[in-house]
Amino acid sequence: MAETQGKVITCKAAVVWGPKVPLVIQEICVDPPQKMEVRVKILYSSICHTDLGCWNGTNEAERAFPRILGHEAVGIVESVGEGVKDVKEGDYVIPTFNGECGECKVCKREESNLCERYHVDPMKRVMVNDGGTRFSTTINKDGGSSQSQPIYHFLNTSTFTEYTVLDSACVVKIDPNSPLKQMSLLSCGVSTGVGAAWNIANVKEGKSTAVFGLGSVGLAVAEGARARGASRIIGVDANASKFEKGKLMGVTDFINPKDLTKPVHQMIREITGGGVDYSFECTGNVDVLREAFLSTHVVSP
Ligand SMILES: NC(=O)c1ccc[n+]([C@@H]2O[C@H](COP(=O)([O-])OP(=O)(O)OC[C@H]3O[C@@H](n4cnc5c(N)ncnc54)[C@H](O)[C@@H]3O)[C@@H](O)[C@H]2O)c1
Ligand SMILES: [Zn+2]
Ligand SMILES: [Zn+2]
Repeated sequence: MAETQGKVITCKAAVVWGPKVPLVIQEICVDPPQKMEVRVKILYSSICHTDLGCWNGTNEAERAFPRILGHEAVGIVESVGEGVKDVKEGDYVIPTFNGECGECKVCKREESNLCERYHVDPMKRVMVNDGGTRFSTTINKDGGSSQSQPIYHFLNTSTFTEYTVLDSACVVKIDPNSPLKQMSLLSCGVSTGVGAAWNIANVKEGKSTAVFGLGSVGLAVAEGARARGASRIIGVDANASKFEKGKLMGVTDFINPKDLTKPVHQMIREITGGGVDYSFECTGNVDVLREAFLSTHVVSP
C-alpha cells in the first residue's frame, strides 16, 4: 500500500490563473480520492488544442480559475477510493475525458458513449461526488501565501500536475510494456481522429478523403482513413511543414490554402472530378468547416 494512501499529497502543478495568463508551476495540495475516484501519479502529459482553447478563455462559460488544464496523459494509480474495482494501485492508466459509468441508458446504448454522469463537459470544473475540488493551494497568483483556496478541475482529467484525482470511470488501464511516452495521445488526439474515420464516417476501401488541419487530430484521421483503405487522402494545412508528417500517415496530396488563388473546395473538386467521398474538419475553425463541407461531392458514387 502506498505510504501516501489516505493522505494529502503536496506536489507541483502548472496552474492557470486567468485567460491567456502564462501557466505558473507551483506547489499544490491533492486530496485523497473519494468513493469511486482514483488518485494518479502523472508520468507524461501532452498538449491538445482544446487545452489551448480553454487557456485562451474564448468561451466565457468555460472560464474557471485557478485551474489545472491537460487531458492527454499516462500515469500510475497511486491509490483508489472506496468501491473502485476496475483498477488498483500500481496499474498504468490513461485518462479519458469521456468517462463511462457502464450503467446508465446511454452507456448501454450501442450508438453513443456520452455517459449521463461522466460525459465530456468543458464547463464542468468540480468532482461529481460532492461538487468540490481535490486540488487546493495556499500560494496565490503572485507567488505570495494566501488562505487555502480550491483549484478547479478540467475535462474530467486535469493532467498538468504530478498528481491528479479522477473518477474511476475516467481512466483506462493500459499495458505497462506499451511505449508509455506515446500512449498519452490515446487519451484524445489519436482516438478522436482514428475514431472519426473508422467508427463515425466508417471510411470504405478505395474512397477519397480530405483532411483539413494536420495537427494531432487530423494526422490521426489520415491514419484511420489509410488503415481503412482510402485510395486518396488530401491533406489541407496552412503550415507547409505538415505535409512531411502527413505523408507518414498516408496523406497522398497536400494543399496549402496560402498557395491558392481560389477556395480550397474548388481545388479539391477539380482534382477529384467533383469532390471527395469523405471530408474531415480538424482545425476548429468555422470557415474551414464550410470549406470541408463544400469539398465533398453531391452525388453518391
Ligand atoms: N474529441 C474532440 O471533439 C476533440 C479532440 C481533440 C481536439 N479537438 C479539437 O480539434 C481541433 C484540432 O485539435 P489539434 O490538437 O489537432 O490541433 P493542432 O493545433 O495540433 O492542429 C491544428 C492544425 O490545423 C492547421 N490550421 C489551423 N488553421 C488552419 C486554416 N485556417 N487552414 C488550414 N489549416 C489550418 C494548423 O496549422 C495545425 O496543423 C481543435 O479545435 C480542438 O479543440 C476536438
Ligand atoms: Zn483533446
Ligand atoms: Zn453512463
